[in-house]
Amino acid sequence: MLKIVVCVSGGGTNLQAILDAIDEKKITNTEITAVISNNAGARALTRAENHGIPAICMSPKNYPDRAAFNQAFTEKMCELNPDLIVLAGFLVKIPETMVKKFSNRIVNIHPSLIPSFCGVGYYGLTVHEKALERGVKVTGATVHFVNEGMDEGPIIAQKAVCIEDGDTPEILQRRVMEQAEWILLPQAIDDIANGRIEVVNNKVRKTEKTEIKLQK
Ligand code: GAR
Repeated sequence: MLKIVVCVSGGGTNLQAILDAIDEKKITNTEITAVISNNAGARALTRAENHGIPAICMSPKNYPDRAAFNQAFTEKMCELNPDLIVLAGFLVKIPETMVKKFSNRIVNIHPSLIPSFCGVGYYGLTVHEKALERGVKVTGATVHFVNEGMDEGPIIAQKAVCIEDGDTPEILQRRVMEQAEWILLPQAIDDIANGRIEVVNNKVRKTEKTEIKLQK
């Protein structure tokens, strides 16, 4: 059973997609052991509580400086000791020590087709604003492993979404969530939980586990 900790900052619709996929057995072999948010008011925390999952708030605001927060956050994660950390709309940079301790065991969902519209300053609605400003016709979402860089780790899965006339950042955000994020992230977790993902030379390879059928 893959033990996961989900980190969230806001609405938590991606967390909800994971919770629903576990309930509907689209994700198997997986248990969410805790949800952590940097934002005490995050709706995501209520979603976790409604599911009987421990909901923890850890905000940089409650620490004297970023180094103190990073240390406490890393210690908390080590204490929880998950097999996988899932960043589902988590807008805090993961401390380097945590990235090292959980190498290839942290995944993030980003609302664009990396390497477009990603990196420092590209998060949430801003990503869609920038895509519309640039006038691209196709955007999407990416699930990737987290390394020391910003949105630079090995890519696990991507899905394209069309931009339509009259799109606002809000309309586009919703379409990217519905058509890409809420599908990709649960799928990636299920793939990891069932041993179908491996990282070779910094690239992700998806392996289909072959079922051994007994001949009669
Ligand atoms: C999602 O669109 C997610 O891809 C994005 O924040 C939103 C959170 O929504 N994450 C990033 O921009 C990370 N760089 P949610 O709280 O409803 O899941």
